[in-house]
Amino acid sequence: MAVHSGKIAGFTLLFTILAMTTYRIAPSILSADFARLGEEVRNVVAAGADIIHFDVMDNHYVPNLTIGPLVCQAIRPHVNVPIDVHLMVKPVDRLIPDFAKAGADIITFHPEASEHIDRTLQLIRDNGCKAGLVFNPATPLHYLDYVMDKVDIILIMSVNPGFGGQSFIPSALEKIKAVRKLIDASGNPNIMLEVDGGIKVDNIAAAAAAGADTFVAGSAIFNQPDYAAVISAMRAELAK
Ligand code: DX5
Ligand code: ZN
Repeated sequence: MAVHSGKIAGFTLLFTILAMTTYRIAPSILSADFARLGEEVRNVVAAGADIIHFDVMDNHYVPNLTIGPLVCQAIRPHVNVPIDVHLMVKPVDRLIPDFAKAGADIITFHPEASEHIDRTLQLIRDNGCKAGLVFNPATPLHYLDYVMDKVDIILIMSVNPGFGGQSFIPSALEKIKAVRKLIDASGNPNIMLEVDGGIKVDNIAAAAAAGADTFVAGSAIFNQPDYAAVISAMRAELAK
């Protein structure tokens, strides 16, 4: 009987561990000091970042201009965590091999920016990266209808893309819940569900409760002197 109880306890523990969500904090370097980018990414990884979120803007798809593959290549040797390239560019495809060669691990793009979404997702995977779609606050989720088997990550924007430091748009929470249902129904629980825009210590738990597992945060982390303190406070919220 003792052995039997032990087995049950063991299984219960195993299931509890399996059921525990892995949360990932992905600081966006958009709010980092670009004059010291190598040091900034090293510091934020030492402070507990799981992923580096890399915002690429082209002054065409979004009204701002940021960084490209050369900068990705430059920071790659400084960190050993995945680099998550968020493409806010149109057209998309030409840049994908360049970012893959520059050391990107994840590449996401906005469906409105690609003429052939299925082809672009496949191109990302063919270049050895995880592929994903990004949804602006007003972009419907139906773009996922025929490509759930081609996405490794789904990114829900909780601000309109283009700038750091904007306020979280609450309707993103309902959308995250809807995507979590789609992931559950897909049979592939490994699809990551990322949220990006206005994430702070005081709203990260709500995003997690809605179903997000990966949290982009730019200004909340880089605008504070102690990156580790912010990341720890976020993890404490996620553990509640
Ligand atoms: C917005 C970018 C975000 C942004 C997040 O277009 O995709 O990654 O940097 O910045 P915060 O966390 O300041 O909203
Ligand atoms: Zn982003």
